[in-house]
Amino acid sequence: MAKHTIALLPGDGIGPEITAPTVALLHQMGDFAFEEHPFGGVSIDAHGAALTPAVEAACRRADAVLLAAVGGPKWDTTDPSRPRPEQGLLELRKALGLYANLRPVRPLRALYDASPLKREIIDGTDLLVVRELTGGLYFGKRGRDGDTAYDTMVYSVPEIERIVRTAFRAAKSRVTSVDKANVLESSRLWREVVVRVHREEFPHIELEHVLVDNAAMQLVSNPRHFEVIVTENMFGDILSDEAAMLTGSIGLLPSASMGGDGPGLFEPVHGSAPDIAGQGIANPLAMFLSAALLLRHGLAMETEAAAVESAVDRALADGLRTGDLGGSATTDEATRAVLNNL
Ligand code: IPM
Ligand code: MG
Repeated sequence: MAKHTIALLPGDGIGPEITAPTVALLHQMGDFAFEEHPFGGVSIDAHGAALTPAVEAACRRADAVLLAAVGGPKWDTTDPSRPRPEQGLLELRKALGLYANLRPVRPLRALYDASPLKREIIDGTDLLVVRELTGGLYFGKRGRDGDTAYDTMVYSVPEIERIVRTAFRAAKSRVTSVDKANVLESSRLWREVVVRVHREEFPHIELEHVLVDNAAMQLVSNPRHFEVIVTENMFGDILSDEAAMLTGSIGLLPSASMGGDGPGLFEPVHGSAPDIAGQGIANPLAMFLSAALLLRHGLAMETEAAAVESAVDRALADGLRTGDLGGSATTDEATRAVLNNL
């Protein structure tokens, strides 16, 4: 088989510390060529932009893109004329056409006590957040006008159709479409399109509509109820952080961004954790699980993907706990625990 090229974007904060062990892990799973590129804050420092055209082109040529995290206090600014690390991420998602962000949430039995929620509430939860990733408030017209600032939420029918299809295809029995149709016009269009796509193409799947505030409540009161949640960009951003805590830590949640005709982008849901950067204590598991999604969705290597996931499960079942999970394992120890189970 031809060697797969993986574009690596370690980014900022804990990014490089969790990228290095992930490369070691992937080396066990196949023959990959890794190409590392500056991205985010480090790229702003070196080149004045979070995503340079050269890095964008390199990502486009790769078979898959693996990103750790971007951002940090050094680049925090409210000045709209100064570059921000997050801009690079948004530009890359847009440039690669990655409109579908998949965020699976499956609490592990071994970690039930790490979740702030009661065991009987999270028991049996297995859900997928399908977040629209290239539209909505993130990409609508924004600006300032005197002492006023505005952002706009814009969605077109084709943008809604394609993300909704992704959700129905991922579902076995139920899709929950989350919107704010009691207030927002874009949500009313969203709902109309979901209803039509459901009726015409996926009538065998159950469809329900839940308002976003109510969805936030049900996610922590009855998470088992959900199978696939589909929602627009900003609602999905917020609900996926909330859903992450069902697993006990946002340090466990991977994500896959798909939909373009080029490579997919795989990244943990967590950020760059500048407060613990450089100490060797970051939890690498969400990054390992993102590598598993890369193997599964990016390279169609299902067996290898499942092997990584079960090695992570077993390491946790054996008692592996990093600081975010209430333990004291270092990044190295966590890596060894997973590699030993591979
Ligand atoms: C995420 C992150 C990003 C987002 C930030 C870093 C721009 O929170 O991937 O969820 O809001 O999409
Ligand atoms: Mg987020």
